[in-house]
Amino acid sequence: MSIRKILTYPEKSLAQPSVRVEHIDDEVRTLIEDMGETMFDAPGVGLAAPQIGVNQRIIVYDSHAADPERGENENPVKEFTALINPEIINASGSIVSEGEACLSVEDYSANVKRYEHITVKAQDIDGNDIEFEASGILAVIMQHEIDHLDGILFIDRISALKRTMYKKKISKKKAS
Ligand code: NI
Repeated sequence: MSIRKILTYPEKSLAQPSVRVEHIDDEVRTLIEDMGETMFDAPGVGLAAPQIGVNQRIIVYDSHAADPERGENENPVKEFTALINPEIINASGSIVSEGEACLSVEDYSANVKRYEHITVKAQDIDGNDIEFEASGILAVIMQHEIDHLDGILFIDRISALKRTMYKKKISKKKAS
């Protein structure tokens, strides 16, 4: 296992759609272990493969992200769930995800409008087809991570004015 480098905006590959995983082999399993380790090291609650430069449809997330005492626990359990080829097959309701942030978008957070309830279809690490419903924070994490697989960052879902301001800030920072 190893911790991989997380790419950040405006890295071009983050804006590229990822390809489906056809075979879950050792390479994919190692990638998933590395993604889990990299996510907890960052630390973050979710990570998509394109964020570490692999444009394949794989995401991982903190299995306990929605636990109520998660933030207060000094020694949290580090368990993650991996989803392969995840898709949202049903979505309803609307919530504002407050202060949404991303390991690939430095020094920024914003409120983002998201679906409140979703149904996700995917394969697990053993290649079994799975389908489940998610609400609230888990639904937000799924939408955020699946967006990465389509080359979409949360800053693509905020107002054009806010996005422009963020882009200016980043280009200034990179130039200095
Ligand atoms: Ni992200």
